[in-house]
Amino acid sequence: MKLSKITLLSSSLILLATGCSVELSDKINTKESKPWAPIKSEVKTDPVIEAKVSKLLSSMTLEQKVAQMIQPEIRDITEEDMRKYGFGSYLNGGGAFPKNNKHSTPQDWIELAETMYQASIDDSVDGSAIPTMWGTDAVHGHNNVIGATLFPHNIGLGAANNPELMTKIAQITATEVMVTGIDWVFAPTVATVRNDRWGRTYEGYSEDPEIVKLYASAVVKGLQGSADEDFLGDDRVISTVKHFVGDGGTQDGDDQGDNRASEHDLYKLHAQGYVSGLAAGAQSVMASFNSWNGEKIHGSHYLLTEVLKEKMGFDGFVVGDWNGHGQVKGCSNESCPQAVNAGLDIFMVPTDAWKPLYENTIKQVKNNTISIARIDDAVKRILRVKFRAGLFDKPSPAKRMFSGKTALIGSDEHRKVARQAVQESLVLLKNKANLLPLSPKLNILVAGDGADNIGKQSGGWSITWQGTGNTNKDFPGGTSIYAGIEQQVSKAGGTAILSVDGSFEEKPDVAVVVFGEEPYAEGQGDIEHLYFESDNKKSLALLKQFKQQGIPVVSVFITGRPMWVNAEINASDAFVAAWLPGSEGQGIADVILANANNEIQNDFTGKLSFSWPKDAMQTEVNRFDENYDPLFPYGFGLTYGDKDILTDTLDETINIPAGSVKSDDKVSEIFQNSIKQPWSLWLYSGEKEIAVYANAHQLAELNYRTVDKLVQEDAFKISLTGSEKPSNSQASGVMIKHVASTAHDLGESVSENSRLQFSVSLANRTDGDVYLSTYCSADKTCGSSINISSYLNKLPVSDWQTFSIDLTCFSKKGMDFSKAVIPFEFSSKGKVELSIADIVITDNTEVSATISCGAM
Ligand code: BGC
Ligand code: BGC
Repeated sequence: MKLSKITLLSSSLILLATGCSVELSDKINTKESKPWAPIKSEVKTDPVIEAKVSKLLSSMTLEQKVAQMIQPEIRDITEEDMRKYGFGSYLNGGGAFPKNNKHSTPQDWIELAETMYQASIDDSVDGSAIPTMWGTDAVHGHNNVIGATLFPHNIGLGAANNPELMTKIAQITATEVMVTGIDWVFAPTVATVRNDRWGRTYEGYSEDPEIVKLYASAVVKGLQGSADEDFLGDDRVISTVKHFVGDGGTQDGDDQGDNRASEHDLYKLHAQGYVSGLAAGAQSVMASFNSWNGEKIHGSHYLLTEVLKEKMGFDGFVVGDWNGHGQVKGCSNESCPQAVNAGLDIFMVPTDAWKPLYENTIKQVKNNTISIARIDDAVKRILRVKFRAGLFDKPSPAKRMFSGKTALIGSDEHRKVARQAVQESLVLLKNKANLLPLSPKLNILVAGDGADNIGKQSGGWSITWQGTGNTNKDFPGGTSIYAGIEQQVSKAGGTAILSVDGSFEEKPDVAVVVFGEEPYAEGQGDIEHLYFESDNKKSLALLKQFKQQGIPVVSVFITGRPMWVNAEINASDAFVAAWLPGSEGQGIADVILANANNEIQNDFTGKLSFSWPKDAMQTEVNRFDENYDPLFPYGFGLTYGDKDILTDTLDETINIPAGSVKSDDKVSEIFQNSIKQPWSLWLYSGEKEIAVYANAHQLAELNYRTVDKLVQEDAFKISLTGSEKPSNSQASGVMIKHVASTAHDLGESVSENSRLQFSVSLANRTDGDVYLSTYCSADKTCGSSINISSYLNKLPVSDWQTFSIDLTCFSKKGMDFSKAVIPFEFSSKGKVELSIADIVITDNTEVSATISCGAM
């Protein structure tokens, strides 16, 4: 590869960057074995508050104290539970909504907040009147709420490198959160991300602590206000710096894995967000799922107590992560004195584990496994934050400053700031012959599966936890990238035509192709290498097709991490890393299009806060590495003033371990960890149907619950109780259908060897007939069903097995895979209890237990 200009440019950037880091390295005495230093929080101890805390604490029973430490999830508690136990806090997980309804209105959110609050201060049953607080993951805007402003994910914000903008974004997020009556936000994530295989790479601002440190305080202040002025005033929420500590530095980038950094690196690389976030007054810290040198942090007395509380001097509370305590050695979700003893103050305990956990914790205090002093310390911390946040004096959630002011959710003013963030986050990697900016008077073809897809451009943590299963209608007020281009082009007299598959009648002047990763969250986004292949190289084919026709091509790459896309870069004249821009897709047009007078509207200002790999296996290439040799270095980003950089062709040799290239395998993923585009998951029972987006649902006799196969919630379990009179009962089951209930052409992934394949784990032998069906019309008149009961019942109980059936079995009986509306339906009238995962159409013939149609 000849990359002389880039190489030159990178070395000067490295020099520049080295200059910036001196300050940080100088402060740390590398020879000292314990690097942690006391942090002076801007929020000072207030003797008046301390007196109130002590007084209240002395009046509390052990049961009331432990209840402060229990944080259940909205799907697992009722108003009556809140009245009876008086939990100190509660949360909604990703994609958890009031009434389990994705389309809950802000009013529904407030009602739930008000109900829970009133139940918490009702002392008629538990004798306690301490207000509860509601925590939520507003990680890129108030992302669980339909219509909220969705900002770019943190990776894009890192590229913008603008701390003032971060404070504004955080303040807007606080405002939209408060409209729904919520008190507390689980953000910012201050992970310094070292290995881009990690599924949470996009939740980090950078691979280097510099921006992380700058941003942590900026975001904390935007959420909570500044200590000297508006700290936790009526217009602010409590913030959480997470996940303490080292989540971004695990071996191989494994989510929830083991960080083996030295203590010095743990501090210097991974703790800098806490150094500045705590100084800015963050009131809560979330313990991380990961381990440090083999020990889970939820159980680490050293890190939670000695380092964070004693050495750094943190006086707020430590909240656990989603049943994270259950992963501590010797613990379960229902019992974990180790975590309390280590210094955890609040158990985040979704599922029905909260009740045994509450009871066990009380018992463990009574039998001295946990000291009452430790409980008192935890509760003091919780109460201290509640007093600081004014929770005892504030009106109830429905009556607060922003409550119910629904016009604030996704307001024009808020969206304008998000749009600015999009503009600033874009990084220009290639601009051959200065193709960009494009004149808005041109005839522009906008292609690719990301062109008109707000869900895809928003990534994970967007309405649903995984960000999947959404359509543009789930983002009212938002704008797709195509729509943004179209608005400006049609105003200027050009034309912008949407053609996802790239076909056209009239040859366009230029094609803008929007493509990239599908949404994912947490461990489900962990990958083996950085070779971009999730679209089976369809976008690359599209880019090449335009090139061959002599149409200049602009690539807009949607991604949660830098990826090895040399072939795509070669096939593009201009290449923009757009990250996960969120709901305001116009921000892209604002930069790549010139104005009507052909002048630059906004130059590119975004710079890589993550090094860009030269090779698919260069998964861990970071600024300041020895022998640092990325394709594009940290800090890289072209502007319109840069002429013709990257004129040479990049090396396209695919260098990944044998067996891990999937592109020539015809696999069409339907459900792989989570539901894939363009599909959606449904439960049905007779005529009744509900869409699945939560981790548990019930419909008539059918129960659905997500379970873990290899990673968190990559499978689902269904239980059908069956009916006493099977002949009269109606079938129930799960079905996967097209999001818009229209026909989808699976033809191209279907060969004569193709199979419908999935993993299954039987909990019990099934009782009654079980059908597997595929349909080519939404009313199920076109398609076919196959009775698979006898095959299923031959499988061993409880092990995961691969179940595979020739597609011809369906097509012979009337299924047309070029018009698939429901490619998978699993149903029965009988008694069934099993788990399903990995639903694909594949032509892999290696599965031994394949049912061929001859056997039918
Ligand atoms: C999911 C969890 C996930 C959580 C994050 C939930 O809806 O079911 O597994 O950890 O969201 O908030
Ligand atoms: C995630 C956290 C999140 C929590 C609550 C967990 O799965 O790791 O980042 O705050 O769920 O939703």
